Formats: sequence, structure tokens, C-alpha cells
Amino acid sequence: MKIKSAELIAVAVREEQYPPADLPEIAFAGRSNVGKSTLLNLLTNRKKLARVSGSPGKTRTINFYEINQSFRIVDLPGYGYARLSRSETEKWGRMMEHYLSSRPNLVKVVQLIDSRHEPTALDVQMYDYLKYYQLDGLVAATKSDKISRNQRSKNESAIRKKLSMRPEDRIIFLSSLKKTGSEELGAELEIIADSWIRKKESDH
Ligand code: GTP
Ligand code: MG
Repeated sequence: MKIKSAELIAVAVREEQYPPADLPEIAFAGRSNVGKSTLLNLLTNRKKLARVSGSPGKTRTINFYEINQSFRIVDLPGYGYARLSRSETEKWGRMMEHYLSSRPNLVKVVQLIDSRHEPTALDVQMYDYLKYYQLDGLVAATKSDKISRNQRSKNESAIRKKLSMRPEDRIIFLSSLKKTGSEELGAELEIIADSWIRKKESDH
């Protein structure tokens, strides 16, 4: 995927703040600190497009990034951030649930999993939720620079098993440090976005 433009076009906590539902959207979901914002920067080759932080809980809003004026990547706030109060957690839940359950132009959610560890209970819960809405099937395993080749294939099996992924579902290992995996993911996102556009055209 050749990135000609990448731009933050909306920051939302409520539906009125979403951009018009006229382009396909692919969202990034995952535990806080798993590397969602970093991955967005890697994919778009922009160092500072999305804000990255060493401490979890950096992204607290739904951020819409428009790519090549043809599709959007939506950076969702991370879950499992222990220091959130209960009311903040509830607010987060409502915000995410609303976007994921009602957005007509949401085509796919990339589930980010830390490649070093087994998916957490919250990862499994999130992935089950995505299955329910048929938004599952694409997992990005982050921080793969921190594991060996050997560990990688072991961890792939563990992730596939824990999330009950189907054989045809994809898992792509990425490292923002080594800048690997982003071309593969970018190509996949392009196919997903294109299929939505073609379907739209044939509906008319
Ligand atoms: P929230 O906004 O809190 O939900 O977090 P996030 O998922 O957006 O994580 P973010 O991109 O801010 O990254 C968290 C930390 O992980 C940062 O310190 C990154 O530098 C680091 N990180 C992200 N990706 C990688 C990677 O591939 N390799 C290594 N070694 N570190 C990474
Ligand atoms: Mg973030």
C-alpha cells in the first residue's frame, strides 16, 4: 500500500462527532499499551501521526485517520487499563460498544495482541465480541522484536487456540522497532477497504 496522505480528521467520544459514514473504516482494538498508535504510525510511515506513550491509557478517544482519501483507520482507546475509575471504565465501554455495534461503514477490526504473551481474558472477550458482529478474523501480533523465531511459532499457535481462530483467519506479526510486518498488514487493509467500496458500487 502506498501512502499518499494520512490525516487525523475526527476525534470523537459521541456519535455526532463521527465523520460521515461514506468511506470504509478499519479499527484497531487491543489492550492499552499493546501498540495500536505505534502501529498506525508504522503503517502510514508518519512518526508523529498518532500519539504514543510508554504509559498505558494514552488514547482516550476514538480517533479517525483518513488514508489516501479512500479509507479510514480508527484508533480505539485501549482496554484493561487498571488505573481507570469505574465510571471511566463504564464510559469507555459505552463509547466502544456504540461505535462497534452501530457503525455501518465499519468493515473490520484488527485485534492487536502482544506477541510475547497469551491473550488475556479481556482479549478473548473483545475477540468474541468482534465475532458476534462479524468483524473478526485479523489479528496483529505486536512487539515481535522481543521474541525469537522459535517462540513466535509457538506463540502463534497459543494465540490461535486461545482466541478460537479459524484456519483461514490471519495473524500478522509486526515490529515497529524493526519495521516489519506493516507491508503485509497494509496490503490486507487495502483489500478489505476495496471490497467494501466494490460492494457499495454494486449495491447501486
Ligand atoms: P493506548 O493508547 O494506551 O491504548 O496504547 P497503544 O496501544 O496505542 O500503545 P502505544 O502505541 O502508545 O505503545 C505503547 C508502548 O509500546 C510504547 O512505548 C511503544 O514504543 C511500545 N511499542 C509499540 N510497538 C512496539 C514494537 O513493535 N516493539 C517494541 N519493542 N515496542 C513497541
Ligand atoms: Mg494509543
